[in-house]
Amino acid sequence: MQRDVIIACDFKSAEDTFRFLDLFKDEERKPFLKIGMELFYAEGPSIVREIKRRGHKIFLDLKLHDIPNTVKKAMAVLSRLDVDMCNVHAAGTIEMMKAALEGLTRADGTRPLLIAVTQLTSTSEERMRSELLIDASINDTIVKYAQNTRDAGLDGVVCSPLEAGMVHEACGAGFLTVTPGVRFADGDVADQVRVTTPARAREIGSDFIVVGRPITAAEDPVAAYRRCVAEFVG
Ligand code: C5P
Repeated sequence: MQRDVIIACDFKSAEDTFRFLDLFKDEERKPFLKIGMELFYAEGPSIVREIKRRGHKIFLDLKLHDIPNTVKKAMAVLSRLDVDMCNVHAAGTIEMMKAALEGLTRADGTRPLLIAVTQLTSTSEERMRSELLIDASINDTIVKYAQNTRDAGLDGVVCSPLEAGMVHEACGAGFLTVTPGVRFADGDVADQVRVTTPARAREIGSDFIVVGRPITAAEDPVAAYRRCVAEFVG
């Protein structure tokens, strides 16, 4: 799998999104984009179709988590939108992840990549213990959820770049790690805690880095994107 930089399009409207994307219209390399809940819920499937029409790959980050039958049917709808990557919560169990994969697979056998969220980075070990009654360490939980994801036949997980090595060790080098929490060495960390640089993420073995504000809030977003690509893809 070719390493790539995914820009998190955390915009509130289609207008803001297209104003941003217009900056890239002369770029030879069309950025791979992540669309999350805010933009998808605001604009609906039409935003996905329009961005695809402009030639971008899309990671639709909706983190599905429901009973297997509901997830299977929802995934069939997303698959028809022709996205390139989508995701579920591994906490939905192996059965739910298998159902997601089935729903996603088109009649001709093709499908978007499917990855799973292990533990959200906003969940602390303390809260896992006191609220979710999970006594294992957060790293053991991440490894177990990643193994469940692999056993269900999915392609990889979303995790911190600092966890990418651990996940590859447990699940194999071909199992994808898609990693947010990336900052330039001289950049602002903002609200992210466990961060690393694009170059370091590459060394640890991330397959895709998801980068939002270091690109979207940069004075020159195209230059920031190019810098990410140069550091991470080479
Ligand atoms: O702006 P920033 O680079 O922090 O954006 C990172 C993106 O990755 C955001 O869309 C955020 O919601 C997402 N994300 C994350 N940590 C996770 C899962 C997703 O930062 N564990």
